Amino acid sequence: MNHPFMINDQGHLTVDGVDTTYLAEKYGTPLFVYDVTAIRKNARAFVDSFAKLGVKAQVAYASKAFSSIAMVQVAKQEKLSLDVVSQGELHTALQAGFPVDKIHMHGNNKSYQELEMAVENQVGCIVVDNFFEMDLLQDILSKHQSTMDVLLRVTPGIEAHTHDYILTGNEDSKFGFDIANGQAEQAFKRLNEIESIHVKGLHCHIGSQIFETDGFVMAIERLFETMHHWHKNYGFIPEVLNLGGGFGIRYTEDDKPLPLENYVQVLVDEVRKQASERELPFPEIWIEPGRSIVGNTAVTLYQIGSKKEIPSVRNYISVDGGMMDNIRPALYQAKYDAVVANKANQSLTETVSVAGKSCESGDMLIWDIEVPQVEHGDLLAVFSTGAYGYSMSSHYNRFPKAAVVFVENGKDQLVIERESYQDLTRFDLSYE
Ligand code: LLP
Repeated sequence: MNHPFMINDQGHLTVDGVDTTYLAEKYGTPLFVYDVTAIRKNARAFVDSFAKLGVKAQVAYASKAFSSIAMVQVAKQEKLSLDVVSQGELHTALQAGFPVDKIHMHGNNKSYQELEMAVENQVGCIVVDNFFEMDLLQDILSKHQSTMDVLLRVTPGIEAHTHDYILTGNEDSKFGFDIANGQAEQAFKRLNEIESIHVKGLHCHIGSQIFETDGFVMAIERLFETMHHWHKNYGFIPEVLNLGGGFGIRYTEDDKPLPLENYVQVLVDEVRKQASERELPFPEIWIEPGRSIVGNTAVTLYQIGSKKEIPSVRNYISVDGGMMDNIRPALYQAKYDAVVANKANQSLTETVSVAGKSCESGDMLIWDIEVPQVEHGDLLAVFSTGAYGYSMSSHYNRFPKAAVVFVENGKDQLVIERESYQDLTRFDLSYE
């Protein structure tokens, strides 16, 4: 397994040197435990690869994958930039003291308030997604007598999903401006006319959990084709090319991601090739990895409760969390791997399916996984829950949200408190 977790002498799973049974006892379950050393390692793999290749780059952590003050502070310490898509993510970044000039603001339906907050705080750039937003931004900039760097989000007609990529003539997407139908060019011309706006370059994001590099190569080719055309017709000189995120990680042994360095190498090679062929200057390359920075750096710890054996059908074990802290299996049929953390070196003798606790048959975390003999009170550790787990969690069935702990070099620190029942009813008003 490609996760950074080890087993200690007692046969317990550890996270960066800390026993998970100790963490579960100290903080309760369900509990997200992040290995901060692993987060830093992933971040540095990207940053160092660009540096080694001598390429000016920004690695913007896509905070949607997991946003919290502590996480944003780690991103800051690692000299990452930050991709935010909402006022809430921007607020978190500001609370964390993240350098505003390295914040990139996204969103397919940015509100006046969101854009104004971005302008007032002078974020590094806004990724413009639609025509409506241009008008709002123009108004806000004139109200504040301010200027803004923007990237134009385009859809190059390449959709990549894990191993498949789809080439489409016209992109059917809620995000960005389609290149093929001419809307991207229209948007560029319109933006160019607004004096307070400076178009720094183009942005595209072709998908998520991508294992192959072909989709990125094709997207770069399309973007350069477009930029070349705009250069000829409008004298546009792209300073930045933002290629989004989407680099795949390993959830189970079936997933075979490339080392992060390889993605960087391929992107840089293709941008070099295209820039020289099209006689354009080599732009800064920006990327926006979310999952590949945090995905494989966390486990979720659950206590195992009831067990249901259906002879000749299936054995279920239930845990004290589920779709409320990890919606991905129910939503995307996402697969996960797990170990019984307090019996991590015992031989695997039974096959069970792991059920969540919510009132929903679809609340299954893992189907048919091999475990040692399990009983009530054992601790299950589900791997690779660092991305889109906590950030997509809900209050379904009024379960309080789980706690989050960071571990680094043998030390554990609570970074998001577990919600209480009082928290749950905090915004409820009586109707008597
Ligand atoms: N940039 C943009 C513009 C994006 O839309 C996304 C993800 C990213 C970067 C980061 O992608 P990553 O490196 O994390 O794959 N909830 C889904 C994933 C949704 C991704 C949405 N956009 C999941 O749990 O798989």
